[in-house]
Amino acid sequence: MDNQLMTKMGQEYVMNTYNRYPMGILRGRGAKVWDGDGNVYLDLVAGIAVNNVGHCHPAVVKAIKDQAETLIHCSNLYWNENQVKLAKLIVENSCAEKVFFGNSGAEANEGALKLARRWASRQGKPEKVQVITALNSFHGRTLGALSATGQTVYQSGFGPLLPELAHVPYNDLEALEACVSEKTCAVLLETVQGEGGVLPMDPNYLAGLMKLKEKYDFLLMIDEVQTGMGRTGKLFGHQHFGLEPDVFTLAKALGGGLPIGALCARGKAAEVLQPGEHASTFGGGPLITAAALASLSVILDEKLAEAAEEKGQYLMEKVRGWQQFAGVIKEVRGQGLMVGIELIPQGLGGSIVEACRQKGLLINCIHGQVLRLVPPLVITKEEIDQGLKILQEVMEASL
Ligand SMILES: Cc1ncc(COP(=O)(O)O)c(C=O)c1O
Repeated sequence: MDNQLMTKMGQEYVMNTYNRYPMGILRGRGAKVWDGDGNVYLDLVAGIAVNNVGHCHPAVVKAIKDQAETLIHCSNLYWNENQVKLAKLIVENSCAEKVFFGNSGAEANEGALKLARRWASRQGKPEKVQVITALNSFHGRTLGALSATGQTVYQSGFGPLLPELAHVPYNDLEALEACVSEKTCAVLLETVQGEGGVLPMDPNYLAGLMKLKEKYDFLLMIDEVQTGMGRTGKLFGHQHFGLEPDVFTLAKALGGGLPIGALCARGKAAEVLQPGEHASTFGGGPLITAAALASLSVILDEKLAEAAEEKGQYLMEKVRGWQQFAGVIKEVRGQGLMVGIELIPQGLGGSIVEACRQKGLLINCIHGQVLRLVPPLVITKEEIDQGLKILQEVMEASL
């Protein structure tokens, strides 16, 4: 199907929830994708931080093919070997002791919210129900996850939202201190705010937060949906801080491109949810966990987190060296291959993204202001150079 037909049919039959570009992607390999008209693009969007092992990594493709011929689905009333192997691999490579599998990031965060409230109620503290998250955070679109998301732009018109969800400015310890109390059962944060504009967490903020945690006894929950799976230069973003959160959530890149979410917990938090208290029909099914197992193995075996660290440095240093854009670029920031380029002129981002697309480079822009580059971690330095050359040309033309 060509781009025009896909666009026409999509507009006719698919709900209008996305502002889409007039193209459809038909094929992908590594860091490249091909559209319905045969055009090739360097993909620095990567499914928005999903395709960490690249498009159609042979190990993931083989795992899916083999498993599809063996068993596609079975109920969680029974064990399946891929699920238990995946849980073991996550546990062996993190501070988590137990894992629950769902189907998306929003669902993993829903599970985290439920876990926190159940943790408090199990202690006989029914008043300990408040969850604090950050302004400009993003935790998903289901009503609970949306209530946790600190952006009114996504919430407006969907109220009433979940009660006892408080939002405080990110990296602002005083604001957190003013909000937290004995009523707080959890603080949920991203280690780099993704949709908030690629904003890394301040280590001093975290140190202060840990003191508050000791005082008020709440769960620290880290949303690793976007930062996880090697993206930031460590397997999980919180590992940069030597931090062992009570709970962390995963999705996006976990499944190598297939939908999966995970709620990972340690210590008492790992034992909170009991039979009948949380479930998912498809969560951790044999096909998706086969793909996730293959993808995580590739990330570990090919040392893709380390690669992300090195390539991210390379990419950011290059962009920081673009002196000619001193009046256009406010800041280049990020961690590993999660890079944000904040622009000075209002609203320039959208036109840069579109001009890049027309030249064969896919990038993304947050709120019209921050160009976001989240390429597959397998991208080569030559491909990074190629992408940055296009971006540079486009930016020069916009001066
Ligand atoms: C940090 C974070 N949490 C949660 C989500 C929601 O994930 P999903 O779209 O899989 O529900 C996202 C999606 O962008 C995210 O970036």
